[in-house]
Amino acid sequence: MLNNNMEKALNTQVNAEMYSAYLYLSMSAYFQAKSLGGFASWMRVQAQEEMVHAMKLYDFINERGGRVILELIEAPPTEWESPLATMEAVYEHEQKVTGLINELVELALEKHDHATNIFLQWFVSEQVEEEDSANDVVEKIKLMGDARGGLFMLDRELGQRVFTPPAATSK
Ligand code: FEO
Repeated sequence: MLNNNMEKALNTQVNAEMYSAYLYLSMSAYFQAKSLGGFASWMRVQAQEEMVHAMKLYDFINERGGRVILELIEAPPTEWESPLATMEAVYEHEQKVTGLINELVELALEKHDHATNIFLQWFVSEQVEEEDSANDVVEKIKLMGDARGGLFMLDRELGQRVFTPPAATSK
């Protein structure tokens, strides 16, 4: 059985993950409008992954006898200055999410909730990857500078990312 505070905090994280999905889908729409189909596709996959994160938490709350309460999802921004500014915003957002996950882990430890702590370790590792993949794109855009065709090449590369639903989350 989940402690009340832990249950509330996990519900808040469901909302945060759904907001992340919303944010990345908004970025996908922005790239689509800029005719950068590869970037748009990368962001769409990113949004799908965020929904997987949200549903992992959703399932866990239920499994532990908690009650999922869905809250209002804030509207995301719709415009960014450039592809670089957009990817920097992703990297920044992921660092913020890492902070939220760390707070959840701290709460689980404080409540001696070992099951939640173990569950959250997946998210701790996932955040390392999330930050790394966003930063990787940021660095590539910076390296490319004003190189002609660079954005086109990167767009093609990013368009190759595919969404693979993790087996552990398919119920
Ligand atoms: Fe659900 Fe991108 O962290």
